[in-house]
Amino acid sequence: MAPHRASSATLAGAYPFLTAPALDRGVLVGTDALTGGPFCFDPWDLYAAGELTNPNLLLAGVIGQGKSALAKSLAVRSIAAGRRVYVPGDPKGEWAAVARAVGGVVLALGPGSAVRLNPLDAGDGDPAAVHGRRARLLVALAETTLGRPLRPAEHGALDAAVTVAARRPAPTVPDVIDALAAPDPDAARADGSTAVERTAEGREVAHGLRRLVRGDLAGLFDGPSTGHLDPAAPMVALDLSRLGSNEDALALAMTCTSAWLEAALAAPGAGPRWVIYDEAWRLMRSQALVQRMQAQWKLSRAYGIANLLILHRLSDLDAVGHAGTEARAIAAGLLADCSTRVIYRQETDQLAATAAALGLTGTERDLLPALGRGTGLWKLPRRSHVVHHHLHPDEAALFDTDAAMRAYPTGKVPS
Ligand SMILES: Nc1ncnc2c1ncn2[C@@H]1O[C@H](COP(=O)(O)OP(=O)(O)OP(=O)(O)O)[C@@H](O)[C@H]1O
Ligand SMILES: [Mg+2]
Repeated sequence: MAPHRASSATLAGAYPFLTAPALDRGVLVGTDALTGGPFCFDPWDLYAAGELTNPNLLLAGVIGQGKSALAKSLAVRSIAAGRRVYVPGDPKGEWAAVARAVGGVVLALGPGSAVRLNPLDAGDGDPAAVHGRRARLLVALAETTLGRPLRPAEHGALDAAVTVAARRPAPTVPDVIDALAAPDPDAARADGSTAVERTAEGREVAHGLRRLVRGDLAGLFDGPSTGHLDPAAPMVALDLSRLGSNEDALALAMTCTSAWLEAALAAPGAGPRWVIYDEAWRLMRSQALVQRMQAQWKLSRAYGIANLLILHRLSDLDAVGHAGTEARAIAAGLLADCSTRVIYRQETDQLAATAAALGLTGTERDLLPALGRGTGLWKLPRRSHVVHHHLHPDEAALFDTDAAMRAYPTGKVPS
């Protein structure tokens, strides 16, 4: 067939469905690479307009492509539009400067910091809700340190210990450990057991929880909180960078801080908020944490929360638990629960899996390895856009994570 040539103005008339209509609601992200027009995004507006089935967003891309920079732009620009932002665990400590710049609160947890967070702080709610929250948290902590699910008898022993510890005005993890070692005989009898049996049933749980009281996490979560984390602040960031690359400590710290997050999500009148999980692939290695994330995402819907999950590649989710396990299914469910997917550059070996998981067209798939820094494919349920994210110079200075790389040019790496 003879090739046909025409100007793009003429072709647009003949083939008018090349690009989706512009997205001009919400905060400005940058420009649409195909049309050159502005690209805006606000998950709540788009949800209300029927463009999204939920407000959650998945962001994936190889190292250094500008994922965190995009998340930070969305955060600070949304704050200017009256939204709030929680960063419940920041393993690299790169959100602290952003939170301070917008008048938010930073809590740095880890060795050398005087900050302490009591994971059993009650939060709001009736006594049964508070009890449930504390018990679920302690189960998650014990399961993380023991590396296995708790047995029914251990659940019973822990539940009874939480009841005993709650007789104090502000119970702490050491109070629960004490109560596990010396159970209430009347409560044990009422459950058809004895104090001696209960002590035996709770022994391993107590060992597991001691990890929070001794060793590398001592002093972080084992006493009364040193400050109040105000859920009404424009941004709250929990800086976990002092924990270094200790994955166990990170998972335990995130589990403890997730108790704060659960209470904060339910804070009355706080309005739409972003909850940003940067470096989520690290956080999601812990099965108990993934389970808590799922519970929080369910809760999110009721409180107008948009979750933002940042990964390198979709196969990061395959690192959660073992194939066929509940944790793996939950991780897949979290992905399915993100109706906006933003894909930054992917390695070629990831293309087939990414395309299959997200239902990409052949053209979209071929685009992924060629995307430059700050450019991503935005896949919404009924449209897709290629978007250049534009950084304001002030943002570029604040979000810069390359400074350390530039400080040591070749031959000048300090010994
Ligand atoms: N849209 C952009 N325009 C110009 N520079 C950008 C853009 N996005 C990011 N950068 C710069 O690129 C560098 C790396 O960005 P960023 O830390 O956001 O990458 P990342 O994808 O989160 O990397 P990692 O996977 O290591 O966390 C930063 O110094 C940032 O300032
Ligand atoms: Mg990053």
